[in-house]
Parts: sequence; structure tokens; C-alpha cells
Amino acid sequence: MSSAARKIVKPLVLVGLMGCGKSSVGRRLASQLGVEFVDTDDEIAKAAGMSIPEIFTELGEAAFRDGEVKVISRLLSGAPKVMATGGGAFISPLVRAEIDRVGTSIWLRGDLETLWGRVEGKTSRPLLNTDNPKQVLANLMDARYPTYALADITVETHANNTHEVVVDDIIKALARTHD
Ligand code: S3P
Repeated sequence: MSSAARKIVKPLVLVGLMGCGKSSVGRRLASQLGVEFVDTDDEIAKAAGMSIPEIFTELGEAAFRDGEVKVISRLLSGAPKVMATGGGAFISPLVRAEIDRVGTSIWLRGDLETLWGRVEGKTSRPLLNTDNPKQVLANLMDARYPTYALADITVETHANNTHEVVVDDIIKALARTHD
């Protein structure tokens, strides 16, 4: 076990808007810390036997949100690991309370152009399958950033800093906390 991994006593939960890099950064962070990585959207899809867009279309967003609470609560209760959550997870008061109780939340904050550059043209995000997805993303930023700001740690991500830099910033921030 690396010296960094010995410091992980709680799950590290990456939160933030679509395109902020939670999965890529999370995978890299977990490997650097020598702990397991899970993507909660992948686990929700696995549990439902459907993709995220299929869950939204066939069961509706409310069913997806129910699954999100259950799956994230289950994953939080296991061994400390790195978790990438879907963009809406930390906005749910129930999920946020669970994350606060058990884990350390880390917000990857990005500006609109950075996030848009990463999600543009992709069809895997049901909330952006609209006539003006960039405007939807901008509206979600306005609505959600005050809540993401409640995270224990905030790290900046932008087009010019690589995921490696973001991982380093997270590890430095963790070293400054007692979690
Ligand atoms: C959502 C973000 C998605 C996924 C779902 C809903 C959201 O995850 O959970 O489409 O509400 O912002 P990513 O943030 O990983 O794209």
C-alpha cells in the first residue's frame, strides 16, 4: 500500500457537473492511491440492466434518482474507495447527507467552455439531448454550483490543466485535511 493510500480512511466522492472529468480523474486518483474505483452511473446501469439513457426513457428520471440513492448508499458503506458520481447525485439532499456522513466530497469545478468542450456531440447524457444543450448546461451551472460548493474540497479543472494536474491538486488538498 502506498503512503498516500494509508491516509484514505473515508471514501473519496467526486462530484460536479457533466464533463468536469469525475470518471477520468477518479480512475487516475484511485490508481495513484492504490484503492478501488467505482463509477456510480455504471453501477446504476448494471443494477438496472439498462444504459442511463434507457433508464431515463423507459423508467423516467425519478426512477433513475431512486436508483442513484440506493446504489450510492451501498457503495459508500464498503471499503474506502474513490467514487465518481453522476452530476445530479450531490444535488439530492438525501445523497448529499449520506456522502457528508460517510465520505469526503471533492468538487471538480469547471467553466462552461471547458465542460461544453467535453460533452458536445455526445448522446450518452439524457439531460443534454435537447435543442440547446449548451444553454441547459449553463442553466445547470447556475442552479447547481451553489450546492456543489458545499463539498469538503474544491479543485479547479479547465481545458489547459490535464487530469494529472487535477489529481495532484486533490492529493495536496487531502494532505491538508484530516480526512
Ligand atoms: C446527470 C449526469 C450524468 C448522469 C445522468 C444525470 C445529471 O452523469 O448521472 O445523465 O443530472 O447531471 P455525468 O455527470 O457523469 O455525466
